[in-house]
Amino acid sequence: MKVSVLGSGYVGLVSGVCLAEKEHDVVCVDLDLDKVNKINNGIPPIYEAGLEELLTKNVESRRLKATTELRDAVLNSDITLIAVGTPFDGEVIDLSYVEVAARQIGEALKDKNSYHVVVVKSTVVPGTSDEVVLPIIESASGKKAGVDFGVGMNPEFLREGEAIIDFMYPDRIVLGGGDERTHAVLEQLYSSFAGVDILKTNNSTAEMIKYASNSLLATMISFSNEIGNLCSLIEGIDAVDVFNGVHLDKRVSPIMNDGKRVVPSLTSYLEAGCGFGGSCFPKDVKALVAYGKRKNMRMNLLDSVMAVNRDQPQQMINRLTKHIPDLAGKTISVLGLAFKPGTDDMRESPAIPIIMWLHEQGCKVKAYDPIAQHEAEAVFEHYDIEYCSKLSEAIDDVDAIMLITRWDDFKNIGQLIREKNPQPLLVDGRRMIDKNSIENYEGIGV
Ligand code: UDX
Repeated sequence: MKVSVLGSGYVGLVSGVCLAEKEHDVVCVDLDLDKVNKINNGIPPIYEAGLEELLTKNVESRRLKATTELRDAVLNSDITLIAVGTPFDGEVIDLSYVEVAARQIGEALKDKNSYHVVVVKSTVVPGTSDEVVLPIIESASGKKAGVDFGVGMNPEFLREGEAIIDFMYPDRIVLGGGDERTHAVLEQLYSSFAGVDILKTNNSTAEMIKYASNSLLATMISFSNEIGNLCSLIEGIDAVDVFNGVHLDKRVSPIMNDGKRVVPSLTSYLEAGCGFGGSCFPKDVKALVAYGKRKNMRMNLLDSVMAVNRDQPQQMINRLTKHIPDLAGKTISVLGLAFKPGTDDMRESPAIPIIMWLHEQGCKVKAYDPIAQHEAEAVFEHYDIEYCSKLSEAIDDVDAIMLITRWDDFKNIGQLIREKNPQPLLVDGRRMIDKNSIENYEGIGV
């Protein structure tokens, strides 16, 4: 099929490249000429594992190209995906980019005589595709939805760092559509994803599935953190043991007929830690709470999910000040700056409030992250931070170490700490190190 994708950000570019890999003819549209040139030269404007290889391959085979010309891209395709940003300002998600895209698509469709399907891929609150996108296209094109064009909604479930695998080998494909023809075109788009569960819904349900999925995972994390925080107040209980017990519930980790237990990756969201971050969980949960408010419903549970997460970095700080009440002049090492391993993304990372607070206390901060240093330099532009290029350097001559991100590199930190005399305090935000293996250990849930 001929596919145009509006917006060459994270979702748009990964979707475009993967659809080209699935042998569709894809054109990615972006306003940013620099981005467009990069894509056409096989250079991904964002970092994502495996993206460069797939992008280069599909640019070379001419199945993928990028352009700034939206109108041509729409007119020369059968289906247009809207994958522009939907920033959240604390009250509502900002639909202005979606609205501009819908208007421009509508203007192009004035001159198109065949049926065209417009699919919202951006994360938007329920009702947006039918009540915002569809009427804008109708008014800009003078055409009728369901007759001349169709509007669909196809949420993405991509994890940063694993986006290519998540797209190529999805767990589900949700196809929202306002009419049968739109569903049929979407099914054709995904026809090569054999064996994957496809769920056909209306547009609002598809929009809600995305929010419900992310809210569930965020809720599991905050639930685990709240239980972990309580465990740490009780002598003799460790949250790691508690959650090992919870994971053994056969409804969480099923026992198969051969007696073997399946441990779903979902269990990793049921572990206490120093809090979630990223571009999706915080934004989507807050946006759903705000949406509930607009519908006159208080989202008590999800409100609390965010409250627990906001307070979680403080749990790390409490463990530090328990041992070092006066931090002025002390040297503290922060290990991990990205919101999770496998990415350089620092958005909403628990490292941000922790480093800011350490700075306020007059600490000297040493920081190490295998790939996020460049991002951190932008976030902490006005802060005096000593960035270290090696893990060993980051924990040299420090009073305490705060472990924030679950990078594999940190697994051996116990050994490095044991080589020091005296051993610095470790505050383990991800419970990566055996608590009995070093002299001064503190961790979430201990
Ligand atoms: C998430 C969803 O997983 C994805 O389906 C959706 O499309 C976008 O949002 P992402 O933000 O990339 O993806 O990250 P994810 O790997 O889910 O991690 C989000 C947060 O949860 C991170 O702060 C991370 O530290 C935490 N997390 C993640 C856990 O606590 N345990 C895990 O096993 C994985």
